[in-house]
Amino acid sequence: MRDINYCEAYRKYCGLLERIMPRLIHLIAAARPNFMKVAPLYHALRNENWCRVKLVHTGQHYDPNMSDAFFRDLGLPEPDHHLGVGSGSHAEQCGGVMIAYERVAAASRPDWIIVVGDVNSTLACSLVGAKQLIPVAHLEAGLRSGDRTMPEEINRIVTDQLSDVLWTPSPDGDANLLAEGISPQRIERVGNIMIDSFEMMRRDIEAREVRRQFGMEHKGYGVVTLHRPSNVDSRAALEMLVEQLAAIGEEMPLIFPLHPRTRARLRDFGLAAQLPPTTIRVVEPLGYVDFMSLVVDAAFIVTDSGGVQEETTHIGIPCLTIRENTERPITVSQGTNRLIKPGNMLSAVRQVLAGRWPQGKGPDLWDGRTAGRVVASLARRSGCSAPSEIQAAGPAGTTVA
Ligand code: UD1
Ligand code: UDP
Repeated sequence: MRDINYCEAYRKYCGLLERIMPRLIHLIAAARPNFMKVAPLYHALRNENWCRVKLVHTGQHYDPNMSDAFFRDLGLPEPDHHLGVGSGSHAEQCGGVMIAYERVAAASRPDWIIVVGDVNSTLACSLVGAKQLIPVAHLEAGLRSGDRTMPEEINRIVTDQLSDVLWTPSPDGDANLLAEGISPQRIERVGNIMIDSFEMMRRDIEAREVRRQFGMEHKGYGVVTLHRPSNVDSRAALEMLVEQLAAIGEEMPLIFPLHPRTRARLRDFGLAAQLPPTTIRVVEPLGYVDFMSLVVDAAFIVTDSGGVQEETTHIGIPCLTIRENTERPITVSQGTNRLIKPGNMLSAVRQVLAGRWPQGKGPDLWDGRTAGRVVASLARRSGCSAPSEIQAAGPAGTTVA
């Protein structure tokens, strides 16, 4: 009689069940910084038998160059659900997303809701999941600036409290969550998903040489991005930044892709004309590959973006972050990022140009393989097997428990 291998038979039975009844996952995207966090994970989940992934776009960002361009660059399909919520006050935006997403979630009852980052839609969808008793997983959990005047800090704290699984990018994230009393079993360090997008697109980014369209030399210019309310929503703060940028432009030309919030404020405060067009090239927001192509060839970046602090640390470009604090301290302690007061911007740029800026090094698990670790974690927590991704994930993530 032939031996029956019960383990093998059970494994096959489970595999069959997973194929017949795959887990339904909603992956939530909303605003510019979400798309590069969602894309690598979407592509990884699409390759799995045990799950079906549906893309939900809340519509928080909607201009073609704040949304569609990223879908195109990162190979994302049309969203399965588009909530079309758009702009508004915080309450309007969070409430609008909650109302619209609650209908979708109630109708399709996903097994998991995955939210990323810290925008209003992240908070709103995690609230819907928690209230509908649908498990929520937060990718990029645990980041804290310690500054509750920042709308994103509120979103981070609440989203993390509500999420069943917390995927962190760095050890400070684990420590912040533990200090807030979150059970270690919910926390897993998986690395930085933004780096997956950069590595996925690296070849295109390096080949594009967008600087040539602006007539710029390699390392012969700086890139500026500013959009935080604390920098641009008050006239005094924005005027100070404009003055400093004009002074920096005298030393090295700048390219300044303007976020729609900043464009509106420059206009409202009558400050647009104070950016000298000969030294500061103000342009529309750029797509991901074009923007990163400018960054890789730049001498330095002046920013208040969260994601740009991480990208510059990964590729070793000097980053001057015009903020009092950062939720990404590892980019300062290990990377090329420094927090700079507005009044010190020009002297910081001079340090860069004199070659006096730290080289930095990339943090652990910022290796372009975070999506694989997330898939492996989710499969395990769903009681499913994801052999392809477990193998592809490279170094294992760290479970805090
Ligand atoms: C949002 C996020 C912020 C993130 C930023 C990334 C919150 C609280 N803020 O800030 O964390 O760093 O996105 O870019 O979620 N607008 C357009 N077209 C668009 C989108 C916005 O014109 O496609 C204009 C509207 O006038 C809108 C304003 O920009 O009122 C601000 O948009 P909003 O999404 O509310 O906040 P952001 O400043 O973009
Ligand atoms: N980015 C872009 N085009 C731009 C400005 C930024 O593609 O004109 C990318 C940038 O590389 C990073 C992400 O947008 O990946 C960061 O988004 P943003 O600064 O809007 O948000 P934050 O990270 O501050 O939440």
